[in-house]
Amino acid sequence: MLKNEMDQQDIYVTRSSMPSYEEYIEAIKPLWDSHFITNMGLYHRQLEKELAVFLKVPELSLTVNGHMALELAIQSFGFPDGGEIITTPFTFISTTHAIVRNRLKPVFCDIKESDGTIDETKIENLITPKTVAIMPVHVFGNVCNVDYIEQIAYKYGLKVIYDAAHAFGIRYKERGIGDYGDASVFSFHATKVFNTIEGGAVICKDHERYERLYNLKNFGIRGESLTVSVGANAKMNEFSAVMGLCNLKHITDEIENRKKCHDKYVSEFEDEEGIRILLNTKEQNRNYAYFPIVVTCNNSMHIRDKIYDNLKEIGVHARKYFWPITADQACFRNQYRDADLKVARSMSDAILCLPIYSGLSVKDVSTIAKCVKESLE
Ligand SMILES: Cc1ncc(COP(=O)(O)O)c(C=O)c1O
Repeated sequence: MLKNEMDQQDIYVTRSSMPSYEEYIEAIKPLWDSHFITNMGLYHRQLEKELAVFLKVPELSLTVNGHMALELAIQSFGFPDGGEIITTPFTFISTTHAIVRNRLKPVFCDIKESDGTIDETKIENLITPKTVAIMPVHVFGNVCNVDYIEQIAYKYGLKVIYDAAHAFGIRYKERGIGDYGDASVFSFHATKVFNTIEGGAVICKDHERYERLYNLKNFGIRGESLTVSVGANAKMNEFSAVMGLCNLKHITDEIENRKKCHDKYVSEFEDEEGIRILLNTKEQNRNYAYFPIVVTCNNSMHIRDKIYDNLKEIGVHARKYFWPITADQACFRNQYRDADLKVARSMSDAILCLPIYSGLSVKDVSTIAKCVKESLE
């Protein structure tokens, strides 16, 4: 029984990285002196500065979570109601919700078989007089074809907003990935490589956008009795900011430890017929946030589900990210049924994300891989 070979009993697709208890307690102690625990406090400001350096971006605005960062990033452009945003359906539902909740219309574009990112060659055909922006996702940390997308955007006068929720620490052509497009958004959710418990950020290419985001995340308040614009409450609190500052100190180790699991999976699967690893390695580094595999044999959905079930039996909880595609979720299904999303739908039926996190033993990775391979037989 493979279950008896596991070091850990229940293994989830990820496990939140945390500093030691002592380190966090020590770091939050000053909050009991100041009693200043939110409202863009010391640690909020410090984390904005440290992250901008780490991510190699001009400036960023911290938010309460990645979803609100997406919503507010879109809102900061002031698109007219009913405007269309060309986007990918192979993503977490948040990407699509952020568009719809801004009273805009998602126009779904198919993805590439090679890496699951938006198929840039299909974007141009979807542009109409109502198109205002393109919103691609660096899914699983795979960098979209940013150069091509920039050219299309320039040609048609469109904005580009990247959902970079999976791409923390990714660099492309020497630049931080958040430096591409008109804005990019990160998630610092507990399940991400870098977390602030809940949190997110909008990368601002110019200070004007930073100021706009500041208003949008703090009610538009600019003085004791001055509110300059309509805004939400979406700012990060100080406990989260401190968690971020602590986690940032250990991010190199976190990524290095994940790499050990990644390398083991690669050695197990690289010659395995029927399994394809959905990760780009060309011209970019990796953060080892996910280990997505695509089942390539006949009847791939059935085999994918069998792998998922067999893993569950040995206490391993893989995830079918992203199945179904967002266009086929119950809330959108009847609206986008006819969209030409062949690649996205077939990839979604065959995808499975395997556990990867710092603290997962290489021995357990090996047992997981064994279970996957046995399920293919
Ligand atoms: C692609 C993508 N976009 C947006 C989000 C939303 O981020 P959050 O959970 O921090 O709100 C997530 C993840 O959670 C995500 O995976």
